[in-house]
Amino acid sequence: MSSTKALSQSLPNQVFQFSIRTWFIVVFMGQLIFAYYIIRLYGESGLQLNFERWNAQTTHGYIAKDLMGNVFFGVHVFFAAVITLLGPLQLIARIRKLFPLFHRFSGRIYLGSAFLISLAGFYLAWVRGAAGGLIGSVFISINGLIILICVFFTLRFALQRQLDKHYRWAIRLFLAMSGVWFFRVFLMLWLVIHQAPVGFDVETFEGPFLNFLYVFVYILPQVLAEIYFITKASTIPSLKFVTSLFLGVLTLGIVVGIAAATMGMWLPVI
Ligand code: HEM
Repeated sequence: MSSTKALSQSLPNQVFQFSIRTWFIVVFMGQLIFAYYIIRLYGESGLQLNFERWNAQTTHGYIAKDLMGNVFFGVHVFFAAVITLLGPLQLIARIRKLFPLFHRFSGRIYLGSAFLISLAGFYLAWVRGAAGGLIGSVFISINGLIILICVFFTLRFALQRQLDKHYRWAIRLFLAMSGVWFFRVFLMLWLVIHQAPVGFDVETFEGPFLNFLYVFVYILPQVLAEIYFITKASTIPSLKFVTSLFLGVLTLGIVVGIAAATMGMWLPVI
């Protein structure tokens, strides 16, 4: 390979790597803030037996005399903290390389938690009802189903030592598990852009924008995962540049959304 060709090959690769790393670091930081919020709001008040505080962010947190529902909610937010902390760590190559035992141990906890959080989520969505009514329940359940499918294949290929396939399913799983986090971040980005709740009703939490957002955060990331795999394996420089540009714009939006969610949604209630 001539040196000019090598350079033209390496520059798109570097740009692509940079955009992926930046996206990942931003998501990691944002999820740490979300985990901190979950621990402070639900963990702290749960330990103090001050369960009324569970309703600071949702009307469906603590309901007097609904023991079963409260237990499922408690289990749900407990595993929400676990998976939000562990998820990104599983994807860091250096951790996998230096601490393979940790990766396997925490991977089992992560997969088990993903399974349980989805089961508790189904109960909350269909017995108690999710924010956003029937459409909200349907879409969050689609997210739950995607999670369960990804858990199955991530575990299966890990046990079969088919590491390439395992890695791909783990990325799909991470994106599915991040769906509820993306939902909050992009909702807040939308509110920052419009400075008003455009495209949905704040009372019913229903409307065309939310329907779009459900698809955007629960289903589209699975398509983006495929685009990532194709771009990573490709030698076409323009594909790497275009994907990097798209990812760069997305990351900027996520930064604004994280800042807005932190200041407007998470910090005020902890
Ligand atoms: C996998 C990652 C998930 C995380 C990190 C997560 C996190 C949370 C958190 C923190 C809450 C409390 C509300 C808040 O403080 O914002 C919550 C509520 C809820 N979650 Fe999840 N969740 C996840 C997945 C799911 C799934 C898969 C389902 C359904 C199958 C689900 C259904 C619900 C429902 C119905 C509520 C009650 C409040 C509402 O309607 O929004 N969650 N979740």
